[in-house]
Amino acid sequence: MAVPSWLSDAVLYQIYPQSFADSGGDGIGDLRGIAEHLDYLAWLGVTVVWLNPCFVSPMRDAGYDVADYLEIAPRYGNDQDVADLAEQCRARGIRLLLDLVPGHTSDTHPWFVASASDPTDHRYIWADPGPGGVLPEGFVRSPGTRPGGYRPNFFDFQPALNFGYARPHADEPWRQDVAADGPQANRAALRTIMDRWLRLGVSGFRVDMAYSLVKDDPDRAETSWLWRDVRGWLDRAHPDAVLLAEWGDPAVAVPAGFHADFFLHFGGPDDGRPLRSLWSNGVSSEYADWVAEPCYFDADGGGSAGVFLTAYQHALAAIGEPGHVILPTANHDFARLQAGTRTPEQLPPAFAFLLTFPTLPAIYYGDEIGMRDVPGLPDTEGSMMRSGYNRAGARTPMQWDSSPNAGFSTAPAARLYLPIDPDQGRPDVAGQRANQDSLLNTVRDLIALRGDHPELGHSGSLEILSDGYPLVYLRGGRFLVVINPSDRARTLPHGRPELAAATAVRQTGVKLDQTTIAAGPFSYGIFRL
Ligand code: NOJ
Repeated sequence: MAVPSWLSDAVLYQIYPQSFADSGGDGIGDLRGIAEHLDYLAWLGVTVVWLNPCFVSPMRDAGYDVADYLEIAPRYGNDQDVADLAEQCRARGIRLLLDLVPGHTSDTHPWFVASASDPTDHRYIWADPGPGGVLPEGFVRSPGTRPGGYRPNFFDFQPALNFGYARPHADEPWRQDVAADGPQANRAALRTIMDRWLRLGVSGFRVDMAYSLVKDDPDRAETSWLWRDVRGWLDRAHPDAVLLAEWGDPAVAVPAGFHADFFLHFGGPDDGRPLRSLWSNGVSSEYADWVAEPCYFDADGGGSAGVFLTAYQHALAAIGEPGHVILPTANHDFARLQAGTRTPEQLPPAFAFLLTFPTLPAIYYGDEIGMRDVPGLPDTEGSMMRSGYNRAGARTPMQWDSSPNAGFSTAPAARLYLPIDPDQGRPDVAGQRANQDSLLNTVRDLIALRGDHPELGHSGSLEILSDGYPLVYLRGGRFLVVINPSDRARTLPHGRPELAAATAVRQTGVKLDQTTIAAGPFSYGIFRL
């Protein structure tokens, strides 16, 4: 179960296609728009691009409600555009990943429409009505002639595809075995779908809710068997392709067959705490009452890097050689790095950490220029969660330059997918490219440094010297990294006089002498020993 080296050495970049670049002038981003900005991504040093779903869909959950897995949504383009994009990516040393949504479809998917009127169809999980027409808890009433109801996977309009249950229950006859016809048909469909896009030139998939397939599955054992089976097929049919899980528990997802899994704001034995305790509570300041604990990368220095580091070591021990933990700056479901009260000077230390740690770095589009999580936006394509948390703040259009609509689209502003950040001082790519000291140029330089020195990447050893403020670690026995994300100067005594002779590769206010490491507010330093 080897991992292709292009993934091990990757710098990932997530694109929410609605909001990246609109080439057609309809106010919504598209595939050609992405293709037109590949030179930018190559300049930045990105090597893998993951697109959120771009398939035919009623877009009630931004495309995570797929109505046809084999067809690109016309607003994004067509098959040829995917093939062209994959090819143009490869010409720049970039791999293209799509988003696979295996756990559920839209309720407008022809499979579901047929199933809702055919009691012999078991592609979905159907329960008969009980006495008085009452449905079992969690089931949603059938929209067709079929009596009873179906089990949703996320929103009610996303019926769960039937991959079976790990165990039967005498009172719940809808629990089919994983080997039953419906579950097997869905497994076969997964391969057909993946095979089709891989043949068009894409290099793999981010897999939505990968943990959710087999129901009532203690320790996710049956779900893991399912994915190991998929992986076996993938290794034979497309050995250079990869699967990245949305699981949030790399210690389980990698042994289950995934090449890598994301640390997320949820999942894992500590339910997302490692990521939340690092740099994002997952929500913007509008939802401040959700904030459970301080983050290590908050200015007041009240957090701890220890939770994250322990979780990382735990994941690593379970994974061993054959896979990776991905550390994202943010994603389309949770707040950006630049959210709430965080100020721009806090981001360079965060990126210095992201790009010198052995986890695979994943940059959410726009985070490289410090785009803000925009508060107060309307519910857009299902961005509003049942809990009331609105994901739209992290989904606003990419800010390219100072032209109208920040260069995202030529459509009238009122037609844009979401408004451009109205802040007069909003950052943009053009302005930051021209400024050597910008966050964008910092991120680019850090990516280049990681690329030039394998010790800073996934394979270099990691020795933590201090997990407080500053955070200090050695990479590959050769690079010393110092990170101080707090607003106060910090000094750390050390017992290694040889550090005084280290050469600064990059530093923003960190000094080493024979006895101490001194780190100014919001600083970082990378030194060669
Ligand atoms: C996780 C995706 O990231 C999210 O955006 C989506 O709403 C749910 N899965 C349902 O597919």
